[in-house]
Amino acid sequence: MKPGGALTVGLLGCGVVGTEVVRLLREQADDLAARIGVPLHLGGVAVRRLDKPRPGVDPDLLTTDAVGLVTRDDIDIVVEVIGGIEPARGLVLAAMKAGKAVISANKALLAEDGETLFGAAREYGADLYYEASVAGAIPLLRPLRESLVGDHVHKVLGIVNGTTNYILDQMDTHGAGFTEALEEAQTLGYAEADPTADVEGFDAAAKAAILAQLAFHSPVRAADVHREGITEVSAADMASAQAMGCVVKLLAICERVPAADGNGRNGRGVSVRVYPAMIPRSHPLASVREAYNAVFVEAESAGRLMFYGAGAGGAPTASAVLGDLVAVARNKVNGTRGPAETTYAALPVLPMGETITRYHVQLDVADRSGVLAQVAEEFSRHGVSIQAVRQEGHGDDAQLVIVTHRADDAALAATVAGLSGLDIVRNVASVMRVEGDD
Ligand code: NDP
Ligand code: HSE
Repeated sequence: MKPGGALTVGLLGCGVVGTEVVRLLREQADDLAARIGVPLHLGGVAVRRLDKPRPGVDPDLLTTDAVGLVTRDDIDIVVEVIGGIEPARGLVLAAMKAGKAVISANKALLAEDGETLFGAAREYGADLYYEASVAGAIPLLRPLRESLVGDHVHKVLGIVNGTTNYILDQMDTHGAGFTEALEEAQTLGYAEADPTADVEGFDAAAKAAILAQLAFHSPVRAADVHREGITEVSAADMASAQAMGCVVKLLAICERVPAADGNGRNGRGVSVRVYPAMIPRSHPLASVREAYNAVFVEAESAGRLMFYGAGAGGAPTASAVLGDLVAVARNKVNGTRGPAETTYAALPVLPMGETITRYHVQLDVADRSGVLAQVAEEFSRHGVSIQAVRQEGHGDDAQLVIVTHRADDAALAATVAGLSGLDIVRNVASVMRVEGDD
């Protein structure tokens, strides 16, 4: 802490999010000082390129020596908005070792190596806050970590990636092409530096891991999360969803799986998964448009809660970073620390094959008698019960659309393999899960 009581912040990264953090620190300096009890002072900003124009940022604060910045004696709080695994991980660890409180928006890092970071926070007595890492501006981690910590969470279900929601929304409402919609999302500052992380579901999987870990007090890493992205979602899938009164959304789902005998409060494990799914247009998540995010939390006593808001973009994300900054600054002023992570429940993440949900299966078939019976027989052989069947087209263009009742993923996969081997099935055109009507 500076003489006179100011707290000094070292900022790592000054891109989409970092630029907005600098602006808010400047524009809200007086209010922040009043809320914390001491002023916040920006002591340095680490970047890759010193020559890049950065309006609103004092050039004297810029440095390429990020290690030097996080270990500087006068720095009290480090904000990491670089992204990626290295050098972010080494910098965050070095900062905590040097006694700094750390704020990070980096879900990739937290979901890959949260245990090392939380261990370091415990060892060095440092605060590690990361509200901005999941769902941008939406207060979600603090409610799970603090407000709901006395309850028993059953399920977390939501849209946690703004880029993919923007793309799917543009495809659904304007018939936009995938590439064109992705370029717009990049221009608007929603996408990750490498948009593969968004469209292949890595970003949402990292967020699902962070949510599951907090909700179920169990260690969950991104690699444990079943992940499917949206690159295979076609205009035909969109049309099929529309015909069923549904919309396609990339969902992150974390749920407790009860034991077979229903005994045991914690269940036998958790299912954590990310995939594009059809949801009824009447479902509240269906109306989440553009880059907005929304997350449902179902807890035993609280019931169903919904969190909604801007999930990406510089200013919304900086709002969450500033919330964390005030929280850790208050802790510093009071000589205390925020709550630590707990993984005492140690529930295993179950294999995807054990996940139970409904499915929409679209087949190109020969249009002749007996076809439907053979297709139905294949479903029945694997214990997958059919809820509805619809035929589209006829002759060489015939398609069968089958919607199932709830079945486990392994049984559906075996059914699809069996269907692919039937002479009368020319092609399994698409398989998509159906969520949100339980
Ligand atoms: P950007 O790519 O816009 O900014 C990254 C910044 O980090 C740049 O200023 C870059 O420097 C700097 N940087 C990169 N490598 C280094 C390095 N080795 N040393 C020092 N500085 C470096 O990313 P965003 O602002 O979009 O994202 C930052 C973090 O926030 C990520 O973890 C992201 O996942 C997360 N996040 C982003 C959201 C968003 O909507 N954009 C929303 C929620 C979270 P230079 O400017 O010189 O290139
Ligand atoms: N690329 C991310 C998204 C940023 O589109 O949601 C927010 O984490």
